Amino acid sequence: MLRIGRLQLATPVVLAPMAGVTNRAFRRLCRRHGASLLVSEMVNARGLVEDSTRSEDLTAFDTDETTRSLQLYGTDAAIIGEAVRILVGRGVDHIDLNFGCPVRKVTRHGGGAAVPARPRLVEAIVAAAVDGGGGIPITVKMRMGIDEERLTFVPAAHAAVDAGASAVALHARTAAQLYSGTARWDAITELVAELPGTPVLGNGDIWTATDAQEMLRQTDCAGVVIGRGCLGNPWLFRDLGAAFAGEPIPEPPTLGEVCDTIIEHADLLAEHHGHDRAVLAIRKHVGWYLGGYAVGGWNRRALMQSATLVELGSRLADFDRDLVLPLENRGISRGTRKGPQEVTLPHGWMNAHSASPPVDRAAELTVSGG
Ligand SMILES: Cc1cc2nc3c(=O)[nH]c(=O)nc-3n(C[C@H](O)[C@H](O)[C@H](O)COP(=O)(O)O)c2cc1C
Repeated sequence: MLRIGRLQLATPVVLAPMAGVTNRAFRRLCRRHGASLLVSEMVNARGLVEDSTRSEDLTAFDTDETTRSLQLYGTDAAIIGEAVRILVGRGVDHIDLNFGCPVRKVTRHGGGAAVPARPRLVEAIVAAAVDGGGGIPITVKMRMGIDEERLTFVPAAHAAVDAGASAVALHARTAAQLYSGTARWDAITELVAELPGTPVLGNGDIWTATDAQEMLRQTDCAGVVIGRGCLGNPWLFRDLGAAFAGEPIPEPPTLGEVCDTIIEHADLLAEHHGHDRAVLAIRKHVGWYLGGYAVGGWNRRALMQSATLVELGSRLADFDRDLVLPLENRGISRGTRKGPQEVTLPHGWMNAHSASPPVDRAAELTVSGG
């Protein structure tokens, strides 16, 4: 069991916030397979405060989502506090703060992964969120630092906890790494030792239930955060549930089950966002869902180019429903491997220990990323 503030989770597993992915449709599929804390796509705090109708879509939850969890991005403590108040008024139960976005146009203005370089700024943002939260757990998610030479996670995590954060999630990569290389789980071990009494959630490179158990064993972290491993693979949560219950890990779905889920996913996207947006949005998922199944490159590409959901459905209907995932393709990595990159920061950013946010409002105008 994992306790995060007043939330109690039966399994120590969290669905990572992923922009463009962890919307209502995908969360519903993951929930069905047993995920209990599912963090929404990132919402820009300033956007929400200045025009709350703009992010209505991103802050919508299914009526049966009993734990409404959402990630906020921002660099201005007052704005974050106000955004948290609005969200709590809408029934949100958990807020995660994004301190890990590595995107250049964000860090260049002192946002995302640049924030932890200023522990006092972290402290001010978290304190404002805790204040606005009225008792709901506020957690933070960060990377190890800017790059190998500028690791920021230890002082930043202490600052977050001192300000009232209920848990710290660490994606064990630097912003410079983006998604390349392997996650350095030893940094998670180090953070666990630094923060006795605060749950540390480990994140990075969990592709199978066995990986999750191995991360817990190696690092002694309180729980795991699953990102790319569940792209096209909501069954990973079912596997994790079985593994933590000491039961055998079920067989991967047949291609038929995968096709049914693709259609369901597309239908849910259409219900929430309309047919045309769903046709575009499902494309990337199709590639992930079919990863490892021997369906042929041509078929895969044709599917991804389907112009309507009817066309998608009829192409899927031609597949062999009994096809199974070959043994050697179980636990393959999914999603981006982008990186490394050079990280751009505002001039003098690493030298000043200010609690003030970046002066430049552009830091607040991020779109996505973690
Ligand atoms: C498509 C995509 C979108 C992401 N968006 C966010 C985000 O909005 N906020 C965030 O904190 N992390 C974001 N991340 C990072 C993930 O939450 C996670 O930290 C990262 O993928 C490492 O975990 P993994 O190895 O399990 O994928 C994103 C990752 C991907 C692949």
